[in-house]
Amino acid sequence: MALINKHKMKKTKILLVGANGQLGSVLTKALQQKIGVAQVISSDLQDKKLHRGAFEILDATNFDQLRKVVAGHQITQIYHLAAILSAKGESDPLRTWDINMKALLNVLEVARVEKLDRVFYPSSIAVFGSSANKSFTPQQTFLNPETVYGISKAAGENWCQYYYERYGLDVRSLRYPGVVGYQSLPGGGTTDYAIDIFHKALHSETFYCFLKPDARLPMIFMEDAIEATLKLMSVPKAQIKTRTSYNLAGLSFTPHELATEIKKHIPDFKIVYEPDYRQKIAESWPQEIDDKEARRDWGWHPSYNLRSLTEIMLSELSQKLETV
Ligand code: SER
Repeated sequence: MALINKHKMKKTKILLVGANGQLGSVLTKALQQKIGVAQVISSDLQDKKLHRGAFEILDATNFDQLRKVVAGHQITQIYHLAAILSAKGESDPLRTWDINMKALLNVLEVARVEKLDRVFYPSSIAVFGSSANKSFTPQQTFLNPETVYGISKAAGENWCQYYYERYGLDVRSLRYPGVVGYQSLPGGGTTDYAIDIFHKALHSETFYCFLKPDARLPMIFMEDAIEATLKLMSVPKAQIKTRTSYNLAGLSFTPHELATEIKKHIPDFKIVYEPDYRQKIAESWPQEIDDKEARRDWGWHPSYNLRSLTEIMLSELSQKLETV
């Protein structure tokens, strides 16, 4: 009993794996704000000096390195954000599989042996493939991903559920749509166009879009993505009914709709469509996501629509340009 109490009273200490990434860099700051800089350790393959507080150079595919960092800092929770994304992953499928899976399995196994309280694992709309209904894709449906990234995320979700069922490890996960934010740059994803477009528009450059004008995809504003993550990770364990990964919706739009919204602010903005291999990836994904389980189980609801997302992206990025 004394042991259990002692364990329960341990102060939350979080390790972010992949803290230099698009989501990781923003989530690190949000968590530091929430629980204090000293309680959040960021880590990645290189120290780019993005963060306050302790930083560890860490390759999560190395089990011993990961365990040492976790034990050394008395970590109680891991947010595992490192992965090779959908578009980049296709250039070297076996390496993508190897890195994405090895890092996750190390995180789960270290969490088990070090008896961590909680793990966060990001999944993706990439777990769906052409057999799933594209319109309001439900939580429970066919998962036949067509990218190696999607295959690794679908397998990863099942490993998370396995560790929960078999060992009681409290792993929680979200199927993120494309995340759109001004704070950081994405890398190697199919949804990256929705951030790049703003940078080109503000630099008065023509935007060459690698998707077709009507390629509708689920997206989420960064603030909403962070809010969802913090919320999922803070609710009592009993509220988490999905142990693979929750569908998460923000908004959905096409490149044409986004360009039209940007033109309301920058009338001279020009977009040229030059679809490449990423169009096929986009076509295999949902157009909109049905996230009713997330709404029901832990009270999720997004706050941003296309108008507000566009306004904030343009004003925040133009302020950044002014200060450069
Ligand atoms: N944004 C990711 C990608 O495009 C999807 O999870 O790869």
